[in-house]
Amino acid sequence: MSRHPTPEPRHPLILRAYAKINLTLDVFSKRADGYHSLASVLQTISLHDTLTLTPTDAPGIALTCDAPEEFAVPTDELNLAFRAVKTALEAAGRTDCGLEIHLEKRIPAQAGLGGGSSDAASALIGANRLLDLGLDAKRLHELAASLGSDVPFFLAGGAAAARGRGEILTPLPDIEPFWLVVVKPAIGVSTAWAYAQLDAEPERASHRATKRFEEALQSGDRDRLIQWQSNDFELPVFAHFPELAWLHDELRMAGAVTAHLCGSGSAIYGVAENETQAKKIAALLQSKYSHVYLTQTLTREASEL
Ligand code: C5P
Repeated sequence: MSRHPTPEPRHPLILRAYAKINLTLDVFSKRADGYHSLASVLQTISLHDTLTLTPTDAPGIALTCDAPEEFAVPTDELNLAFRAVKTALEAAGRTDCGLEIHLEKRIPAQAGLGGGSSDAASALIGANRLLDLGLDAKRLHELAASLGSDVPFFLAGGAAAARGRGEILTPLPDIEPFWLVVVKPAIGVSTAWAYAQLDAEPERASHRATKRFEEALQSGDRDRLIQWQSNDFELPVFAHFPELAWLHDELRMAGAVTAHLCGSGSAIYGVAENETQAKKIAALLQSKYSHVYLTQTLTREASEL
């Protein structure tokens, strides 16, 4: 036997981090902790980032990123995937190892597509698996919620109703997959700013569509699944950014059966009748916008990490 055994090869773990859209988004009152109570149906879509995680013997976290320049992705602790790994290592009390994260970024930021949150969820799951951190599902959920309101959803994906500040999740039955065209215009919207706009309008009424959407889902009424899609952020965001209201109309005029803001914006999704129609809509929008994504909703099984 050699006195200097060759170290075991380090196998990287490659995980996807899928984006989401909100099929409904009802925002209620502001709570004492500054967050808003909400109700939302979240749905995973096939647009995704890819994380390559490689364990290292030396402690520490290093993040590299491939992304279009305009995405301006941070590679330090400002990056939620970086923070997720740090949080997981601390929670497990592990100081003996580290992780390299390589992030292939496709999901645009400030779009309302949950890209950063999804990266964080995949990084948590990946670090736990690769470094044998021994964090159970309950602990992972707590750590995810500490990283951001949307992060817990991405641990399981599929379709789910979110309540509380977004962290109380009820898995929903799979919605029959449908094609989407998502457009991210050049402007971005800050989530905190969008909530502040809602607060500035104390008389506002919520669509309160989440419950009705859940009922339509239980009864298998596909028309109502289109009809009840809504987003409370549309009123203030469209009023402040008329170009987003226009983009919404462009998607409808191009043939989308419905179109809505993604989260607090600025991306807008349009629902297509079928793949052919989605390709037609995407081609029309591509002549004007540089970030147009032809994508599909995913079942929970398809979105499993
Ligand atoms: O939880 P997360 O860091 O993603 O939230 C970003 C910001 O969005 C918060 O600082 C808060 O201003 C706002 N927010 C909110 N109510 C929620 C979720 C987010 O007011 N339920």
